[in-house]
Amino acid sequence: MIKRRGMLIVLEGCDGCGKSTQARKLVDALNTTPREGEGSLGGHVTHAELWKFPNRDTAIGRLIDEYLQNKCEMEDHAIHLLFAANRWEMVPCLLETLEKGISVIMDRYAFSGLAFSAAKKKKLGFQWCKIADQGLPRPDLVLYLSLSSLEMEARWNKKERDGTMVYIRERYEKVAFQNQVQAEYGKLMMGEDNWHVIEVNNKSIEVIHRNLLNIIKDNVKISTEKVIGKLWL
Ligand code: TMP
Ligand code: MG
Repeated sequence: MIKRRGMLIVLEGCDGCGKSTQARKLVDALNTTPREGEGSLGGHVTHAELWKFPNRDTAIGRLIDEYLQNKCEMEDHAIHLLFAANRWEMVPCLLETLEKGISVIMDRYAFSGLAFSAAKKKKLGFQWCKIADQGLPRPDLVLYLSLSSLEMEARWNKKERDGTMVYIRERYEKVAFQNQVQAEYGKLMMGEDNWHVIEVNNKSIEVIHRNLLNIIKDNVKISTEKVIGKLWL
């Protein structure tokens, strides 16, 4: 069998839309899907890993974490560049992982970087925001979870960190701001053939999971046969 690279699959959406839950379930499902035969991914996916941005474990990530928890202030351009740097610092490891045939399910990526920064009142400029992430590995699929603002807020107060529930509301968790973020995402997905929008209002975790898994199954072969692209280039 020809060895194929892993898929790069990104989950995006506003805060509280269920990305982290779904990302975990997708990784579990891909790791337990039979390699061959009925229900398999045709032997293409050997293993899957869960990645998340911001990655709060690096030196840059720790600064971002402080900013998100309102423990420090940062100029808007500067924090935008730190979010992007937090992705770039992981690129060698990401490419190595995909080359090994391991798929990566990514909980947020450059699209969050653009949507959240461009949504700020003192606009940074859509084009300016894009440049910092230009050339990153381009995802094979972007799965966008769309949630109404009514359901959003109810989900914000509870958060899981390292297996324990914590009760904090982070910097961007305000309805008006998240509505603006969703509008920016709307601009981003226009004309893109690798985005899939999934409405999550009033749907069970299981139904959404099946939906996402089917999209992946429909795309896995095509994607792993293509060389990984470069984002926005
Ligand atoms: P999280 O809740 O998924 O850990 O994301 C942290 C917050 O940071 C969330 O409100 C989205 C925001 N964010 C950015 O502003 N820029 C970025 O590049 C990323 C990845 C997230
Ligand atoms: Mg959040």
